[in-house]
Amino acid sequence: MSSIKKAWFCQSCGAKHPQWLGQCKSCNEWNTLVEEIIEKGIKDNKSWSNKIKNEPLEISQIESLNVKRKRSGDDEFDRVIGGGIVPGSICLLGGEPGIGKSTLLLQIAIKKNQNVLYVSGEESLQQIKMRAERIDLESKNCSVLSEVSTKKIIETAENTSPDLLIIDSIQTAYSPYLDSSPGSVSQIKESAAEFLKFSKTKNIPVILVGHITKDGNLAGPKILEHMVDVVLQFEGDRHHIYRLLRPLKNRFGSTQELGVYEMSDAGLKGILNPGGILLGDREKGRSGSAIGIACEGTQPLLVEVQSLVSTAVYGTPQRSCTGFETRRLNMLLAVLEKRCGFKLGAKDVFLNITGGMKIDDPALDLAVCAAILSSNADIPIPQGFAFTGEVGLSGEIRPVNRIEQRIGEGIKIGFETIYYSQKSKTKTSNQNKNCIQINTMEQMVASLFG
Ligand code: TYD
Ligand code: MG
Repeated sequence: MSSIKKAWFCQSCGAKHPQWLGQCKSCNEWNTLVEEIIEKGIKDNKSWSNKIKNEPLEISQIESLNVKRKRSGDDEFDRVIGGGIVPGSICLLGGEPGIGKSTLLLQIAIKKNQNVLYVSGEESLQQIKMRAERIDLESKNCSVLSEVSTKKIIETAENTSPDLLIIDSIQTAYSPYLDSSPGSVSQIKESAAEFLKFSKTKNIPVILVGHITKDGNLAGPKILEHMVDVVLQFEGDRHHIYRLLRPLKNRFGSTQELGVYEMSDAGLKGILNPGGILLGDREKGRSGSAIGIACEGTQPLLVEVQSLVSTAVYGTPQRSCTGFETRRLNMLLAVLEKRCGFKLGAKDVFLNITGGMKIDDPALDLAVCAAILSSNADIPIPQGFAFTGEVGLSGEIRPVNRIEQRIGEGIKIGFETIYYSQKSKTKTSNQNKNCIQINTMEQMVASLFG
């Protein structure tokens, strides 16, 4: 321990200080100094850098990673990360507390027919056992360890050489080389660096769990995202059953994939054709409801947009959104007011994307406008109508990507009349005469309510 050297670095300007200070001497920012290890002793440095062979190679001679990928046992997970876990890779799974990260990883640990070491710093062995009983799968090769010290975890992993190491979570991991408490920026960074080193030298894949703060960022330093090979986000609404697994970064595959799971009494179940799952308990024939075709990665998803427009009781009208951005709603309301002449300025507008999903695909604009207009006029949108298109500031309907796929999915689920931009380049319009191509918001209003 005596050979360890530490320094305090300013997170704002990068200046190095020999001890902690409240204010950085270089840039005068307050509370920006973070403790970091600068040298862990000679022995340590040797083992890490000398083990990796470093010679230039002809591209054709390099062995392909795809050959070596190992199935995790969970088809959705494998597909999202690009076809299986790459040996020696390090993956970060982020998500809000209670969303199901531990459940997903325990399921993978049990389903994978190889040695897995599942380390939990958050739960006792009994709690993990209870979860395993809920999932109700027979475990053969999954060992569980309740430990927070990175040093002990790595020692255990070195002795048992598992095929996969799971750390739940990086916020509880504690490196004895640092004095700061678990969960602090320097601890997270240092612990992740130790697991990274372990994974690369032993060629064992590691999955880290990371918590997410209320504003949706991975807790701890952003630098964690740069250190790992794959960043996955597990999201959804805790009060609903659907969960989305989304790759934010993937060095070994596409970030356009999307995995959809359903949380049941017995763990998470992957959903193969998720296109229409969110429309399940829809009340038909009501005003204020419109179906939008959004795209998450390459997967088209049909979502129900509900809106309620009512006369404002108080002076300032309320605008409230669930699953949609309030600023975008304000913009759409301004377009409807200015371009189509609807007096919505004095109305309360509430908007809800059902199913607990958060959708930021601009293609939902058209459905949002349709739902608002339907509620405002109290006229239901006919059944079998769906919308996909972005609305511009001058009220024009802009084309969206993957239009063929969106229309195809809509028709497959039973929506025959799909509104989309005239500027979209598609052949489908010739085959489906019912689809309606529009150029402006005014055209849509005339076509729907005219
Ligand atoms: P958990 O995996 O503990 O979440 P995280 O690790 O992301 O904090 O999942 C917590 C929730 O999942 C909890 O509220 C209970 C629920 N759950 C089920 O509905 N079914 C199950 O089979 C399991 C294991 C959990
Ligand atoms: Mg957990």
